[in-house]
Amino acid sequence: MSYQNEDIARAADVLLARVDTLDDKAAILRAPELGALYAQIRTLPNEVKSSFGAELNALKTELQARVEAAADAAVELPLIDVTAPMDANAPRPSLLPNEQGSTHPLTQEMERIVEIFGRMGFVAEESRELDDQFHMFESVNFPKGHPARDDYDTFMTVETDGASDPFIAPAHTSTMQNRTLVKYRDQLERGEAIAAIVPDRCFRNEDLDARHEHTFYQVEGIYVAKGVHAGMLIATLQEFLQSYYGQELDVRVNPFYFPFTEPSFEFALSCPFCKGTDAACKICSGEGWIELLGCGMIHPNVLRMAGVDPAIYTGFAFGCGIDRLVMMKYGVEDVRHFESAKLDFLEQF
Ligand code: DAH
Repeated sequence: MSYQNEDIARAADVLLARVDTLDDKAAILRAPELGALYAQIRTLPNEVKSSFGAELNALKTELQARVEAAADAAVELPLIDVTAPMDANAPRPSLLPNEQGSTHPLTQEMERIVEIFGRMGFVAEESRELDDQFHMFESVNFPKGHPARDDYDTFMTVETDGASDPFIAPAHTSTMQNRTLVKYRDQLERGEAIAAIVPDRCFRNEDLDARHEHTFYQVEGIYVAKGVHAGMLIATLQEFLQSYYGQELDVRVNPFYFPFTEPSFEFALSCPFCKGTDAACKICSGEGWIELLGCGMIHPNVLRMAGVDPAIYTGFAFGCGIDRLVMMKYGVEDVRHFESAKLDFLEQF
């Protein structure tokens, strides 16, 4: 910008050059030259006062813009490509042990679960964060209009899959039963069993409290072969749970209803926390038993929809809440802690 008034033009040259040399750029706005020019206004004839004042203000604005640009440049950080492969030779920032990150407790426990089932011959499959109505409902034997659909408080998208059905954030890991059966069904013809688990995230539009979260984890299990029966289901779950809790546990099996299993059971476990000895136990409310998971013999319709002949093969399935499992192991009283990002809580694991 060029200034008409000579005094202002000279001051502009000096001040704009000086601002680049200052560490504290804002100090330029307090420069004595600027103060002197403002003081000069009073001494000027009335006809030039306003044009002089306007030019002086323009100079101040120009200087201010320089100060602000410098402040913006100062916070511009170098770009980091977080996807770049790690340079193993780069110096590491030194962190105190308690400043280092660690795996989330639920991730830790899921790895344990995968390991235990892995030893029993189960492969682990991943679920997804958005699924369709077929996998959430139809494929596990909830036809359209089935009243039990309402038991799952599903989150749905506004967009549809083209057949005007909204997508669904999976409300249980059973959404993966059909895909897993389809993926491994060739094994059956070779005389091998299908043995898979799906530990992953689920979502329900729940009222939140100490026992209910909108985002939680389940592990689904599927075992299909010739001659599979309910005794094998109970033995598998008991073996898993004893291994997970590292102690002998009693189990209780009650009849229940799920559309995707027939017969269906609710599986309860003797309280691993108080073993039924504490009437005030916060984990089992003094009952000594905890309803832990749903399970049963896979419904023939579910097998049929996945291209597995229920006249030849039978199977069992189960679905277990991982948050519950972990809460019982460590005596965690509020499920909301897991997703709360509270370091005090997370650092205990
Ligand atoms: N999907 C059920 C739920 O979230 C849990 C479940 C019950 C899964 C029985 C199963 C099963 O595979 O056989 O409520």
